[in-house]
Amino acid sequence: MLKENGYQFIEETKLPNISESDQNLKKPQPPYETPLKNPRPLIGLPKPEGIDFGLYDLRKAIEERRSLRRYSDDSLSLVELSYLLWLTQGVKSIDEKRHVTWRTVPSAGCRHPFETYLSINRVEGLDPGLYRYMALEHKLAPIRLDEQFNAELAQACGGQRQVLTSAVTFIWAAVPYRTVWRYAERSYRYMYLDAGHVCQNLHLAAESINCGVCAIGYFDDDTVDALVDLTPPEMFVIYMASLGKKSPRNE
Ligand SMILES: Cc1cc2nc3c(=O)[nH]c(=O)nc-3n(C[C@H](O)[C@H](O)[C@H](O)COP(=O)(O)O)c2cc1C
Repeated sequence: MLKENGYQFIEETKLPNISESDQNLKKPQPPYETPLKNPRPLIGLPKPEGIDFGLYDLRKAIEERRSLRRYSDDSLSLVELSYLLWLTQGVKSIDEKRHVTWRTVPSAGCRHPFETYLSINRVEGLDPGLYRYMALEHKLAPIRLDEQFNAELAQACGGQRQVLTSAVTFIWAAVPYRTVWRYAERSYRYMYLDAGHVCQNLHLAAESINCGVCAIGYFDDDTVDALVDLTPPEMFVIYMASLGKKSPRNE
């Protein structure tokens, strides 16, 4: 049976029901990146142009990808983390004329309405805790360095073990106004579609460096938003993915 509220959303976001956008009303557009609440020194990541893991067959990555929920105890290197961040949200260039960032993933209207948070468990050179990827700078901002963070996150995902045991869990937070500025109510469809592209890139990039991913859509929104210190509706967690090195035991 269809749940009425769910389809109501589709009904209300059909083109004839969309209100005039702030872009059409000539309001200024929001920044490409949400400023940090408390600015802090950023941690440099290896530059994408210097990263070379060799070629990996795309068809093999697509055919062999599956959701992986058990990982080895191995850590990820900072180079591998940099590679994964680059291929999921990396900013290839800023187009000042069109006021957009061109990234490694598609996004409706090139609005790119996400900030990527990371719950880090096992990455060489990084203390465990919560970080934010600063895509424009290709750097990391430490947000909450605390070994307990990941356990609390896993708890908020219904105790999903793959979050608890991940080397890193990607947490994608939506900043709706970046898309709403152009597409008004219809943006709430696009953001979820955009998020799917990001996670698929993570799946395929992970395959190429012997890692596995499990998308996470089951989580307690309010608890996760509070953990990451987000204030909905301006910003909220939309999707997550746990990731770790493949373990020969689990093949
Ligand atoms: C939007 C979305 C949300 C998902 N959420 C979860 C989740 O919370 N927990 C989980 O174990 N798997 C989750 N998955 C993984 C699916 O269960 C998995 O993709 C599906 O069973 C097919 O398996 P495969 O990815 O190995 O082909 C999610 C997948 C998607 C696309």
